[in-house]
Amino acid sequence: MKIGVLKEEGRERRVALHPQEVKRLSAQGIEVFVQSKAGEGAFIEDKAYEEAGATIVADEKTLIETADIILTIHLPSAQRSQWMKPKQVWIGLFNALDNAKRVAELAQKQITMLSLDRIPRITRAQSVDVLSSMAAVAGYKAALLCADYLPKFFPMLTTAAGTVAPAKVFVLGAGVAGLQAIATAKRLGAKVYAMDVRPETKEEVESLGATFVTVPEEAKKGEGGYAAEQSRSFYERQQQVLAELFPSIDAVITTALIPGRPAPKLIPETLVEKLPKGSVIVDLAAPNGGNCTLTQPDEIVQKNGVTIIGYTNLPSMLAPQATQLFSKNLFNLLQMLIKDQSLQWNFEDEIIDKLCIVYEGNLRDKDVEAKLQ
Ligand code: NAI
Repeated sequence: MKIGVLKEEGRERRVALHPQEVKRLSAQGIEVFVQSKAGEGAFIEDKAYEEAGATIVADEKTLIETADIILTIHLPSAQRSQWMKPKQVWIGLFNALDNAKRVAELAQKQITMLSLDRIPRITRAQSVDVLSSMAAVAGYKAALLCADYLPKFFPMLTTAAGTVAPAKVFVLGAGVAGLQAIATAKRLGAKVYAMDVRPETKEEVESLGATFVTVPEEAKKGEGGYAAEQSRSFYERQQQVLAELFPSIDAVITTALIPGRPAPKLIPETLVEKLPKGSVIVDLAAPNGGNCTLTQPDEIVQKNGVTIIGYTNLPSMLAPQATQLFSKNLFNLLQMLIKDQSLQWNFEDEIIDKLCIVYEGNLRDKDVEAKLQ
């Protein structure tokens, strides 16, 4: 069994596999091939991979032609896809629903694809859940960005010249990223408020020392730990609550997500106008179109004295540790897939069934198929 690890293209700093997991795979008799400088962005030298038992391969063409399984973070470019082999397995965070057309094109190469963003939200899948690992990294970084761009202290400060009040941070959406953002903003000393449509998050928010803000209307329930799209009247009520709250808020972190849908537009320009000048919005939903209507992907926008940050790849900014977490999740997945040095395709297993969007050229994911219509 030969596993290949690609150097990511573009500005991505993470790499799919860390030397720690190379070592564990090598100990199981699995050969690991790593493209030269694959770990550079995460400050991992080729030498570290070699010491862990990997073989460094100078060029991507040889690497792709050698491996049975390719580990990557993003969808491969057209250049890379020309070297794909039938039955080869590609594993990565392919954002299958947003890239359905490209997935269908790649399927024509008769490959098998596992798209890590299709992970079901069940307890047993937690050890392979890269979405949650990366969301936790992003939530942490979002709070730091707020603290950095806000021209104010986060903590309360008592000095001989008087007392400085703590910053007020509002987190919209208390899922994985939101809870990490709340915890980080609290640790930095801010007073934190949070809102979510899933009532069960209230306890989690309060256990982190933040104040849960409610909308005076019952929210529709979603499935599998995710939120559902809400009624128009709910969104109107929610905006009324935010309009009252925002004049006293210094920084907003938005994370609201409805799976398979564009990000709900919860902060229109009229709400941005309610924020005090100098305040900051970090819109984590930027990769899905943003929760704020003014968000521009990978840009920092200024509007009425408010700074709106729409970075779409915060995990790449913390590449060394994001890589460690990603790699650990991938290793756990490989343990589910490989038995006695050969691949086992148990589609009775919900995790494998969901992740495997393409099997030997056949598109298996109904949601991806629906996106092609
Ligand atoms: P999650 O599903 O765990 O959390 C989203 C939360 O939003 C849920 O708790 C949900 O109930 C809540 N929500 C949905 N509609 C809402 C509404 N109308 N009002 C209030 N809350 C609402 O998702 P996770 O893993 O925390 O990811 C959050 C977002 O961060 C996603 O959009 C994801 O794509 C993004 N993300 C962005 C990164 C970046 O670098 N910008 C990196 C990683 C994730």
